[in-house]
Amino acid sequence: MPGIKRNTMSSSFAHVQKVTTHVLQEMKLKGEKISMLTAYDFSMAKILDQSGIDVLLVGDSASNVMAGHTTTLPITLDQMIYHGASVARAVSRALITVDLPFGTYQGNSKEALNSAIRIMKESEVDAVKMEGGREILESVERILSAGIPIMGHLGLTPQSIHKFGTYVVRATDKDEAKRLIEDAHILEDAGCFAIVLEKIPASLGAKVAQEIKIPIIGIGAGNQVDGQVLVLHDMLGITQDFSPRFLRRYHNLKEEIMGSVKSYIDDVKSLDFPNEREQY
Ligand code: KIV
Repeated sequence: MPGIKRNTMSSSFAHVQKVTTHVLQEMKLKGEKISMLTAYDFSMAKILDQSGIDVLLVGDSASNVMAGHTTTLPITLDQMIYHGASVARAVSRALITVDLPFGTYQGNSKEALNSAIRIMKESEVDAVKMEGGREILESVERILSAGIPIMGHLGLTPQSIHKFGTYVVRATDKDEAKRLIEDAHILEDAGCFAIVLEKIPASLGAKVAQEIKIPIIGIGAGNQVDGQVLVLHDMLGITQDFSPRFLRRYHNLKEEIMGSVKSYIDDVKSLDFPNEREQY
């Protein structure tokens, strides 16, 4: 693809056999950017892990890209556990974090703890991710008290899309920006190990990453944060109907797959496949 660099930068953390929350903290301290992508299945997760990705997010974006829903809201805890376990079976190095899905942690901290415990026990991953700040603090504290690491998520939080009413950039006004910074401090003080910031002004992302000591991973939050995350299907060009400004497409996999499938169809129809060597 034009403009896409193919060479792999050397990383002083490439030798790390297993990325943990402590490794991520060290990366922030040493100024090494954290790479994170979503993963939902065994085969892709294996490729991503072998490529050297630092963090895999089993995102509730599975609701969109795997199941075809228009929002992340419908995906269930059982479905997230299924995706989490599939990814965990493939991965040896990357830290894996799984989204707690909508409706499994808001408003009832005991239910939140049960949801997080189910993910950790049944998926065997490293951490959970939760959307929100002060309004979910009780759930955050209860889950942390059970020894389960939490990645926070602020800014555009897709589970609240019906409250926002739109996917436009968040925290462009002073009040929302102030609240976001306060929430980042609340999550840090509670003991979260990292925070995702989604679709906010780059200047705000930079300010949060500077003020907050835990790693800040951006998606549409500029390049002054501590790492970046993208949805795999978007960056590979499998999905093509979603083109926010923050998305860099590294491949046009949809076109490549369609080309291969068309060749296969032609070969089947023309009796070219299977040939003598491809049969018993
Ligand atoms: O579910 C997801 O993929 C996410 C990313 C957009 C950060 O939460």
